[in-house]
Parts: sequence; C-alpha cells; structure tokens
Amino acid sequence: MNAGESSPPPDPTAGSQTPPRRRRPRYPGTHPRRFEHKYKELRASEFPDDARHIESRGKTLAGSHRPIMVPEILQVLAPAPGETAVDATLGHGGHALELLRAVTAGGAPGRLLGLDVDPIERPRAEARIRAAGHDETRFVSVGSNHAGMAAVLARLGWDGADVVLADLGVSSMQIDDPSRGFSIKFDGPLDLRMNPTRGVPAADWLAGVNERRLEQALIDGADEPRAGDLARAIAAARVSRPFRRTLELASWLREWSGPHASRDAADGLVRRVFQALRIAVNDEYSSLATWLRLLPSVLRPNGRVAVLTFHSGEDRLVKQAFKEGLRTRVYDEAPDEVLRPSAEERRANPRSASAKLRWARRAPAP
Ligand SMILES: C[S@@+](CC[C@H](N)C(=O)[O-])C[C@H]1O[C@@H](n2cnc3c(N)ncnc32)[C@H](O)[C@@H]1O
Repeated sequence: MNAGESSPPPDPTAGSQTPPRRRRPRYPGTHPRRFEHKYKELRASEFPDDARHIESRGKTLAGSHRPIMVPEILQVLAPAPGETAVDATLGHGGHALELLRAVTAGGAPGRLLGLDVDPIERPRAEARIRAAGHDETRFVSVGSNHAGMAAVLARLGWDGADVVLADLGVSSMQIDDPSRGFSIKFDGPLDLRMNPTRGVPAADWLAGVNERRLEQALIDGADEPRAGDLARAIAAARVSRPFRRTLELASWLREWSGPHASRDAADGLVRRVFQALRIAVNDEYSSLATWLRLLPSVLRPNGRVAVLTFHSGEDRLVKQAFKEGLRTRVYDEAPDEVLRPSAEERRANPRSASAKLRWARRAPAP
C-alpha cells in the first residue's frame, strides 16, 4: 500500500473483544494526522499509556467522546439505586455508564434506556456498555430520535422514568470522522447527518434551499451576524461551484470573510455555518421542541431531567420549556441560572467550553 492510501478505519469497539492483530496503517511523517491512521487512539484499550498522554494534552481520542460535566449532572439528577433512567442521546455511552452505575448500585434493579439516531455509533456504544457488564435487563438501546422517547418507553412497557438526560448536538466520533462530513479541518463529503440513512446530505440541502430560507437557517442555527449577505453570496456562488466537499465550503467561507479577517474570525464563520447546516439537515430544533413538550409525560412524579446544550438556540428552547413548566406547575424546580463546566474541565477538555447545563424536577403527584 502507498503511504497516501488509507486502510479501512479500525472498529473503535475492538478493544472490547480480542481483536486480531493487524499491521499498523502506514502514514506519511512521524505522527498520524488522518482519522483512519490514528490506530492507537482508535484502539485505546490496547495503548493505554498513549491514550492517557493524548488526553492529558486536552485532546479527545479519535473514535471516542469524553462525557461533559459528569459530577454536576450526577448531582442534579441524583440517580438512586433501583430507578429508571433514560439517556436520550447515548453517543459514546459515557454518561449512560455513569447513570447505570448509580441506578444498579449494590445490585439494585435499576435500568437505563439509551436512544440515539446514529446507526453507525449506536451499536458500538451498546457493545461497550454490554462489555461493562450491563445485560438486557439493565440496559436497552434503541435507534430512535429522542422525539420518540415516550413512544419507545410505551413500546417497552416501561412506566416512565425517574431520571432523563439529553446531551445535545454532535459527538466527538461524528466530528472527528471526516467521512461523516462534520469536520471543518479534514476533507470529506458535505453530509452532516447524524443518521446518514435519512434525509438529505448538507450538500444537497445547500444546493436546493432558497436564499430566504438559507438566511433564516443561518440566523436560527448560528446567530450569524451577516446572514443576509452570506445567504446571497452562497446562492450566487453555488451556480458555478456546487459545494460538495467540506473543505471546498470551508475555504470558500474563509475567502468570503475577506483578506482582513483574522484567522479566528474566519474559523468562527466556518464553524457557525457548519453548525447552522447541521441543525437544518437534522431538523434539530423540531426534534428538541417535541422532546421538551413530551418530557413531562415521561417523567414520574419527582423525576429529574438535565439537558446539556452547546449554543444559544438550543438553550433558549430548553429555558423557555422549563420556565413554562414552572408556571404551569408541571415542574416544581427549574433554576433560572445555568451551570457551566469548571475551569479545570474546560482546560482538560476544550470541547466542553460552550456547554450549559439546565435541569428541572417534575412536581410530586397531587
Ligand atoms: C454530544 S453526543 C452525546 C454524548 C454522550 N452523552 C456520551 O457521554 O458519550 C450527542 C449524541 O446525540 C445524538 N443525537 C443528536 N440528535 C438526536 C436526536 N434528535 N435523537 C436522538 N439522538 C440524537 C447524536 O447522534 C450523538 O450521538
């Protein structure tokens, strides 16, 4: 194989079984840069020292995700032995494992339902959680939008939940794998779908959307200050230059930000546009609104919910829903102020920097 060629990405769950020995992928230079070449990170359990070293530098291991604000979430959710929990965004399973540990402590018959729309990562998270010793009586994972949480619980015959968590947005596994199209650093198809078997890739959405709708998506999804100008410029540019690849769009955006824009400002623009596209193609706000509306019907009396958000649009929806729930006495507690990651966590895991945590408690039975 030539140095520039890539081998298929190793399975990040491979550490849970005994994997066959594979030759390490060849890569140019002294350090693997491409996702599929980071074989030590992708098989972290076989290379624990390297994994520790990478994490100590504030990096997230390729193919992995570091759960955010774990102590704060455990404190507000207070999962107790024997309780029923739902992780509405299973991701890598880090939060789910912590919740499972609490609800099954001392052999208690607690259980957790984990939902995720991502058909690539969800089976890997499930395998990881099974390997940690949680069988089907304790842990059930379902490929579903969290908007369908109430229906999934009903189908399982589970009578509501004491604890519900949603850690919104995108996982590090999704961001880091260029073939998913979320990366602004590495080239890949401009896709950005959490479930690539549903809906349309961002490239098709961008090719077909009208200028007005694009402007609104840039405002709603990213508070883009020059949304109107940018929507107009994209609509003009796409006539001669369809945006099919992540780096094609990213470099066009950097150019559009102008010769005097700082690198940070240009990167900020690229990040905001990708975020707005992601929110649009995954229809994230309507899923979140449905989930928030149905949440009280799922929470048992005194049940607790915690939501981690990563931008103002998400946070606004959660804040409004909890405020309305307080007003109508569906919730008896929902603090107005958000919790933020500690300075130490932000340093150790820069991806936590924009996180905001809100929580609420379902009122007791009348
Ligand atoms: C930030 S990650 C969660 C990480 C997880 N808490 C952990 O500890 O590994 C967000 C996850 O939510 C999933 N997701 C996004 N929108 C969703 C939706 N509407 N319904 C279900 N899952 C969704 C994504 O596929 C992704 O895996």
